Amino acid sequence: MDNLRVNSQSSLSDVDDLSRLLDRRPRLNTERKRSFDERSFSEMGIMDSGINSPGGRSGWETPGSSARNSFEPHPMVAEAWDALRRSLVHFRGQPVGTIAAYDHASEEVLNYDQVFVRDFVPSALAFLMNGEPEIVKNFLLMTIQIQGREKRIDRFKLGEGAMPASFKVIHDPIKKTDTVIADFGESAIGRVAPVDSGFWWIILLRAYSKSTGDLSLAETPECQKGMRLILSLCLSEGFDTFPTLLCADGCSMVDRRMGVYGYPIEIQALFFMALRSAMSMLKHDTEGKEFMERISKRLHALSFHMRSYFWLDFQQLNDIYRYKTEEYSHTAVNKFNVIPDSIPEWVFDFMPLRGGYFIGNVSPARMDFRWFALGNCVAILASLATPEQSAAIMDLIEERWEELVGEMPVKICHPAIESHEWRIVTGCDPKNTRWSYHNGGSWPVLLWLLTAACIKTGRPQIARRAIDLAESRLLKDGWPEYYDGKSGRFIGKQARKFQTWSIAGYLVAKMMLEDPSHLGMISLEEDKQTKPVIKRSHSWT
Ligand code: GLC
Repeated sequence: MDNLRVNSQSSLSDVDDLSRLLDRRPRLNTERKRSFDERSFSEMGIMDSGINSPGGRSGWETPGSSARNSFEPHPMVAEAWDALRRSLVHFRGQPVGTIAAYDHASEEVLNYDQVFVRDFVPSALAFLMNGEPEIVKNFLLMTIQIQGREKRIDRFKLGEGAMPASFKVIHDPIKKTDTVIADFGESAIGRVAPVDSGFWWIILLRAYSKSTGDLSLAETPECQKGMRLILSLCLSEGFDTFPTLLCADGCSMVDRRMGVYGYPIEIQALFFMALRSAMSMLKHDTEGKEFMERISKRLHALSFHMRSYFWLDFQQLNDIYRYKTEEYSHTAVNKFNVIPDSIPEWVFDFMPLRGGYFIGNVSPARMDFRWFALGNCVAILASLATPEQSAAIMDLIEERWEELVGEMPVKICHPAIESHEWRIVTGCDPKNTRWSYHNGGSWPVLLWLLTAACIKTGRPQIARRAIDLAESRLLKDGWPEYYDGKSGRFIGKQARKFQTWSIAGYLVAKMMLEDPSHLGMISLEEDKQTKPVIKRSHSWT
C-alpha cells in the first residue's frame, strides 16, 4: 500500500499551495518530514470556521433541521439525522465524510466502513440543505488531495485525474496519527474503475458553491487543477466515433458485471452534468478557456447524440421495429445497424403510448433497452433531457409505477435479467440474481433523485407518493441498502442495514419537498445552445 502514502514531490508542493491559499498561519519546517496524511487539515484551512455558513448557521445538534424548518417533521426525520451523524468519519478531529453503512450486525464489513465518493453525495446534500457546509468542504479538499497521489494497479499507472471510489481513515491510537487509505479500484471487488467519482466530485463542488455562495473554494488553484485533470481524462481524444464516454462494466453505482459496459446512460448523464457544472466554475484564464472551448464542443455533440439515439418512446420503438439493416453511407436511417429481431419482447408491452426514456446503452448493433433510474433522473436534473423528454420520463414513471417504483422506491433498473441471459451477462453472479441488488433491486437512495426530478418537472405529488411508501418501511426495516423482488417488497438478500445513503437520500427527499428552492444546487437549467439541431417526427421535437 506504499502508493497510498504521499510519494511525490509534486504532491508536497500541492499541499504548500493549498496551505498558502487557505491558511496563512506559519508552519514549522519539521512538518515537511511528516507524511501527507498526518498533516493537520488545519494547515489547509479546512478547519476554518470562517467559510460561509448560510445565514451564519452552523451546528451539529441533532436534528438540526427541526429548528430551521417551519414544518412539523415526520418522526423518522430525527431518527435519520441521528443515524446519519453516527456514520460520520473524522480526520484529525474534523468530519470529512460518512461511511457507507453502520451495520454492526453484518458479519462481513468488506469496504462498507469506507467513505465512498458516490455514497457521500446525498449525505453532502443533506448537510448543505441543513446549513452545515463544513463537512462538504472538508470532503472536497480531502478527495482532491487523494487525486494528487500516484495511483497504480499492479504495474499499471492510472491517469492523473482519476478520483477514488472510496477512502478510509485509519486512527493509530498509540502514535496518535490519522492515515488515509484510498481505493481507486485496486482493492475493489472485480478491480472496477469508478468513472462516476470524478463527475460526482465536480457536481458536488457546484452544489457546495451554489448552496453557500462561497465561490472561493472552487476558485482555488487546487480545485481548478482537480477539475482540469478530471476533464483531461474524459475529454481526451481516442478512436471513438461517438461523443459518449466509453466505459468498462462496473464503472459506476452498478459496480459489478451487469452488462452496462459500453456507453451506459448513468455515466453519460453524469458526464453531461459534470461538463456543464465545470463550465460554470472554470476560471476564464488561458487554461480554463481552453477547457471551456473543448467542453462546449463536446456538450453540443453529446446532447445531440443522447437526445437522438438514446431516446425511446412509442414512435421511436415502432421506427426501430421497422428498421432496414445493412445500410451503408451517410444516408443510413439505422445508423448503428440494430437488428429489429434483437428488440426484447418485454419492451413492446412496457412502452406506454404516453411517455419515454433514455435507454441503457447504444453502440454498434446493440441497444440495451433496460430502464435505469439514476441516468434518467440525472438527465432531467442536468437538462440533458429536453423539457418534453423530461415530461415524458415522468409520464413513463406514472404509467409504469408498478414496475419502476412498486412497493419501495426506486427500482435501479427494469427489467431483471434471468436464466441463460443472467449467466452470460453477469457471469453467474449470485448477488445479482433476478430482482435483487443491481439486477432489478429497489434502492431507497434513489428516492432523492426521483424527488428532485419530480420537483423540476413540476410533479411533486409523485415524489410525495414515493416518500409515503418509503416512510411506511424504511425505519422499521433498519434503513436497508436495497430491497428485492419484482415489486421491491423484501429486504435485500445481502442488503446492509443502516446504509448511509438510504438514510441521507430520505432526508434530502424530505428537505427538497419541503423547500423546493434546494433544488437549485443540484439542477441545471436548459441551455438553449445545446438544443437538438435535427427535427424528428417525434413528440419531443
Ligand atoms: C455497492 C454499490 C455501490 C456503492 C457501494 C457502497 O457496491 O453497488 O454503488 O457505492 O455498495 O455503498
